[in-house]
Amino acid sequence: MRRLIAPSILSADFTQLGQQVRACQDAGADWIHIDVMDGRFVPNLTMGPFIVKAVRQVTDLPLDVHLMVETPEPMLAAFAQSGATYLNVHIETCPHIHRTLQTIRELGCKPGITVNPGTPASQLDEILHLVDLVLVMSVNPGFSSQTFLPEVLSKVSYLSKRLAKINPDAWLEIDGGMNTTTLPLALQAGVQVFVAANAIFNHPQGIAAGIQELRNLLPS
Ligand code: DX5
Ligand code: ZN
Repeated sequence: MRRLIAPSILSADFTQLGQQVRACQDAGADWIHIDVMDGRFVPNLTMGPFIVKAVRQVTDLPLDVHLMVETPEPMLAAFAQSGATYLNVHIETCPHIHRTLQTIRELGCKPGITVNPGTPASQLDEILHLVDLVLVMSVNPGFSSQTFLPEVLSKVSYLSKRLAKINPDAWLEIDGGMNTTTLPLALQAGVQVFVAANAIFNHPQGIAAGIQELRNLLPS
């Protein structure tokens, strides 16, 4: 089973975004994670399709677009056109999640579903067969550099077992507070894709060292 590292550009130096994304690719990052926040669903306002398009121009890595927005449906087409690979919506924001996931696939993107720390994993039971990616939030979304919430590990284990039965091709991802102490716990629980912002972009020895330090903890 391959394990992936997905640097989140939320902690990148935006005065040098292109160079920093290329540095991630050169250091062996597998995906680039892009955090879209609307200032309503989460208390922060960040990036839109314009940034996704800019990142698309400097890398050929898959772009993992994490939509932390209320009512994502009207903006899906714009993100698809901007070059998103995965379009990842929160279960908490989508009352018609079945339709939303279908729309993402019709737009030519890979559908992902995300679940907040306070939301039970069982809410995903009816749609696990429809997704290419399941993302478990291990912090309350909104900001990078927060502290990992260990209580989400039981949710990771549950989803890992369900996906193995129902949809073994889908990736299981974790996002929030990943570092050299917490990554092994997530790995043990069944995570396959590790998002990290602070541990990579604020590593004292730079981006490549941050990625390598996490990669060293993964089975080859
Ligand atoms: C949190 C975002 C994360 C965040 C992770 O709302 O979804 O992707 O950038 O940051 P770290 O790795 O610093 O916890
Ligand atoms: Zn994220």
